[in-house]
Amino acid sequence: MNDNDRNLTDFGDEPMSNHSDNPHFSSILERRLSRRDMLTGSLTVAVAGMFGASGLGNLAEAATSGFLPPTAGGNPSFALNPSLGFTAVPPTRSDTATVPAGYKVQTLAPWGTPLTGSYPAYKADGSNTGAEQEQQVGMHHDGMYYFPMANNPNAHGLLCVNHEYVDQYNLHQGGANNSVPRPEDQVRKEIAAHGISVIEVKKDEFSGEWEIVYGQYNRRITGNTPIEIRGPVRGSDFVKTKYSPNGTMTRGTLNNCANGYTPWGTYLTCEENWAGYFVNKTGLPREHSRYGVSTSNGRYRWESAQGDADQYIRFDASVKADSAVDDYRNEPNGQGWVVEIDPFNPNSTPKKRTAMGRIAHEGCIVAPPQLGQPVVFYCGDDSQNEYVYKFVTKARYSKHVNGDILDQGTLYVARFNEDGSGEWLPLDINDLAFQAAAFVKGVSFADQADVLVNTRLAADVVGATKMDRPEWGAVHPQTREVYMTMTNNASRNAGNIDAANPRGPNPYGHIIRWREQGNRSWATKFEWDIFVLGGTESDSQVLPEQGGPALTQDNIFASPDGLWIDQNGILWIQTDMSGSQQLSGPFGANQMLAANPVSGEIKRFLVGPNDQEVTGVVSTPDGKNLFVNFQHPGDRSSAGTGFTSNWPDHGAVYRHPGEATVVADPAGPRPRSSTIVISREDGGVVGL
Ligand code: FEO
Ligand code: CA
Ligand code: CA
Repeated sequence: MNDNDRNLTDFGDEPMSNHSDNPHFSSILERRLSRRDMLTGSLTVAVAGMFGASGLGNLAEAATSGFLPPTAGGNPSFALNPSLGFTAVPPTRSDTATVPAGYKVQTLAPWGTPLTGSYPAYKADGSNTGAEQEQQVGMHHDGMYYFPMANNPNAHGLLCVNHEYVDQYNLHQGGANNSVPRPEDQVRKEIAAHGISVIEVKKDEFSGEWEIVYGQYNRRITGNTPIEIRGPVRGSDFVKTKYSPNGTMTRGTLNNCANGYTPWGTYLTCEENWAGYFVNKTGLPREHSRYGVSTSNGRYRWESAQGDADQYIRFDASVKADSAVDDYRNEPNGQGWVVEIDPFNPNSTPKKRTAMGRIAHEGCIVAPPQLGQPVVFYCGDDSQNEYVYKFVTKARYSKHVNGDILDQGTLYVARFNEDGSGEWLPLDINDLAFQAAAFVKGVSFADQADVLVNTRLAADVVGATKMDRPEWGAVHPQTREVYMTMTNNASRNAGNIDAANPRGPNPYGHIIRWREQGNRSWATKFEWDIFVLGGTESDSQVLPEQGGPALTQDNIFASPDGLWIDQNGILWIQTDMSGSQQLSGPFGANQMLAANPVSGEIKRFLVGPNDQEVTGVVSTPDGKNLFVNFQHPGDRSSAGTGFTSNWPDHGAVYRHPGEATVVADPAGPRPRSSTIVISREDGGVVGL
């Protein structure tokens, strides 16, 4: 979801402005030109190191362990300098997928697909009930990962898909009834359309089409599923509720945006804009106010629903009783976490890993693990002027570790210095520097649970760098270099730009990257540069420190969001432009581009149907089947406009450039978020 959908400043309504002569940024370039050679040199060293004892051997060892993350298995070719072997797709607006010549697309598991229980059929008029939605694939597919089956990894696996939020008009027959109290079954359906789907998928060897397997693994986790609280916040006063007086359980995971996976074969789902689901009318404690909990009503007014009231009343965090164990004042503190799910055990209870911090979590991206070393994860906090985080486990990696390794470790926040260096600042109650910073700022924390529930405040205290809405991260499987999208920032201005966020305002976003000191992911210092400044042909630049070119018709983009580096070293960039940025800008609809991180070559690979964002990307280990999500097609639909997209049920799933565009019919089928599978007609590796 774009922040613009939450009624913040819509960049698409801002005048296009040219910041290419920004004197501040020019002076930064001059200061840093000498550092360019050092960065280039260190890349060579990092690659050499990977082929030594530190990296590739461990990945090969992991490849024998069964359920493999694609980046660790399938004999990746590890081409550091991948050439992009397709013709760029031009900016396009068409109510379908547009892919390069030689590529094809199928849909897989659109919203409403029967998945579990009695397998209730999808009803095209939107009349499925809440109980049926609980057994169907959720709405608004987002972050996603593919867990290959060991005995047939490239044609059989488990797809874990996040469902970020819902468009009420498209979800319900005749749209939503938002008068208070909300109708119970509409609220039940909305909660059930959130969460995660675990979907067993298999490629038919004759048709070549991917299909859902109706076996033991399919599962829905929703906004109402019991989830265990683990780590330092477990049992603390912050999470004691009427539902869980001892503070060990909570219900549901909300606004599941980006994702991650672990080397031990589990899925990580991340809770992004959870704060908006709650209301607190009796005064906001800092663990509510710093995250934007409303004082008037929740975004869908779930708190107003009747019927089985306890599961809806919990969205009202007002103080209503003498004790926290008699009301839901602490319910919002059960959100904002990274949640670990074992997709191979459908009966397992998901776990909120609180040691990893509480923010508006975009992904949780693991660095390639090294035997005998800590395991490292990177997270962005997607709100204007929030921060970049890293979690380093206390225990060391071995092939015997499991998710409990995530319950102890150090959470760091990033400071990007003007000279291209950077530091990871610990948010640790036992760290003397943290204690001193808190003392100077006059902020007190009782214990580490307090620090973690108030992660943003702790990061404020240590002086982290305010960033332009950190979205997804990606770690290069070979060099361990980290890339992260800064999607845009309406509140940045000429007076508060810095080297890492060099444009104010920043309507187009940029991608920053860093390399940890000594190529050790757990290091506390790093070197950074900007990979690309997104934007128009007159306001953009690739590898600005190296004097790279502006973007062209082949690759102009704005609002980068999803990010992934595949087995061959291709950096995939997905966009989440606002409605007006898509409708009236030069960029066409939201899209996915492929980039060579070494040369800076970028080509537009995919453009999606009307009004959607492209989000979630992963492939089979052989790189021949690329799974991508189209989220919220037709999100401008209303009773007045009818449906602004009919994808995919109008049947025009994809096209090639030059073929007729597809126009939506307001009276046509309702739009459905869906996974797509992209493959080459000649069966080759996607992107090369
Ligand atoms: Fe859900 Fe920050 O995108
Ligand atoms: Ca976004
Ligand atoms: Ca996103």
